[in-house]
Amino acid sequence: MSTSEIPADLAAWCAANDARAQDELFDFLRIPSVSAKSEHQGDCLAAAQFVADALTRIGCTAELVATPGHPIVVGEWRKAGPDAPTLLIYGHYDVQPAEPLELWTSPAFEPTIRDGRIYARGSVDDKGQLYLHIKALEAHLAVRGTLPVNVIVVAEGEEEVGSVNLEHYLERDKARLACDAVVISDSTMFAPGIPSILSSLRGMAYVQIDVRGAQGDLHSGMYGGAVVNPAMALARILATMHDAEGRVAIPGFYDDVLPFPDAVREGMRALPFSDDGLMHEVGVTALGGEPGYTTLERLWTRPTCEVNGLLSGYTGEGAKTVLPAVSMAKVSFRLVRDQDPDTIVRLVAEHVARVAPAGVTATVTAMHGGRPWRADLKGPVIEAGKRALHAAFGREPVITGEGGSIPVVGDFERILGAPVLLMGFGLPGENAHAPDEWIGVENYQLGTRAAAALLDLYAQEFAAAPRP
Ligand code: BES
Ligand code: ZN
Repeated sequence: MSTSEIPADLAAWCAANDARAQDELFDFLRIPSVSAKSEHQGDCLAAAQFVADALTRIGCTAELVATPGHPIVVGEWRKAGPDAPTLLIYGHYDVQPAEPLELWTSPAFEPTIRDGRIYARGSVDDKGQLYLHIKALEAHLAVRGTLPVNVIVVAEGEEEVGSVNLEHYLERDKARLACDAVVISDSTMFAPGIPSILSSLRGMAYVQIDVRGAQGDLHSGMYGGAVVNPAMALARILATMHDAEGRVAIPGFYDDVLPFPDAVREGMRALPFSDDGLMHEVGVTALGGEPGYTTLERLWTRPTCEVNGLLSGYTGEGAKTVLPAVSMAKVSFRLVRDQDPDTIVRLVAEHVARVAPAGVTATVTAMHGGRPWRADLKGPVIEAGKRALHAAFGREPVITGEGGSIPVVGDFERILGAPVLLMGFGLPGENAHAPDEWIGVENYQLGTRAAAALLDLYAQEFAAAPRP
């Protein structure tokens, strides 16, 4: 590990405080702040308070902004003076549900180290990656008593459920949140030891499809064959969503897709990626998707339709003969520019209405959505990010895309007019949203150093950049 290019005072502080920074993260990870479940509302509040306390302890101000959902933590340190830029650091303290619990090697909310990895729900997504920024601020404040830039920290508790209230908050408080750039660590590196800056995220349209048949469950012998089965009807509806080759077959779905520039596609092709490696990572013997695209292009540049969950009828032990009255599917669409989530939901609803068989009613309910995003990859914060990652990891970062979504990234650009730097410290195979989620101990430490260096380098790059 080479950290020689990290300023010596910050590097020394980090080395002396790595153990404590890890202990504190463990305390954060023990709070089961699952935003999707109302039973964890108190835990979400506790996690928000944990972040606020962590900020005030190191010398920032912090408050919890109430929302109709979980609170937003806003931390501030603004003593760098009017000529210094303002950097907004965003992350989320909420986590995905930990189920299925029995598949965790160690309990989801009891952080445990194995093989140089910190295992816990939220370790990489996103508590670890949020907390390392707070430790980077602490490094500066502890060693130098000051920061080279003004800082706003925004930590929300609803990222995993679509960030609905954050968007409204950004609109409402945009004067206070005015900033020159945003940095987010909520993504993965391309490979171990290869730091990465993200150039794109997919967007999202999420729907629930409910199919209802008879007024109640029926005996499948007495009624089966004459009364339409909602489970079969749903299977038919879902099967119409792709053609036989793997394209999405919903009319109009691709109409607004803006192809990625050739240069970006060439850059992706130059990355050291192998289908075999991915198959090995996830444990399958073949990959599949839209024809005419490489795997990385399918993941990063093309929109998709995926069933996330399916429910109908009897699923318990043994066999029960029943014709279910209802069936349900949760279906998400990953979007690329310039697809619009609301338009996609409308197209899906029209399609389902067209293909649903007579004898059942099918309803489409929109859940959350988010716009796709592409970066400009120019300007002081990007240059600073490249240099900070180089300093911490000892090599130039690569530019990657991402198949996941962080809906608020587009909102930051649109509402605050600030460019966003996405530098993530997760790794392939990190099991985000799945059992045995982990973040590498080394990446947590190097991420802290990169985040600390970023503050110095952003101040420098900003000062050197031509004023508009
Ligand atoms: N951190 C992820 C997004 C992500 C994953 C970015 C991997 C880069 C690499 C984020 O917390 C997340 O999971 N977002 C949700 C958003 C959705 C709920 C709108 C997602 O992508 O499913
Ligand atoms: Zn996340």
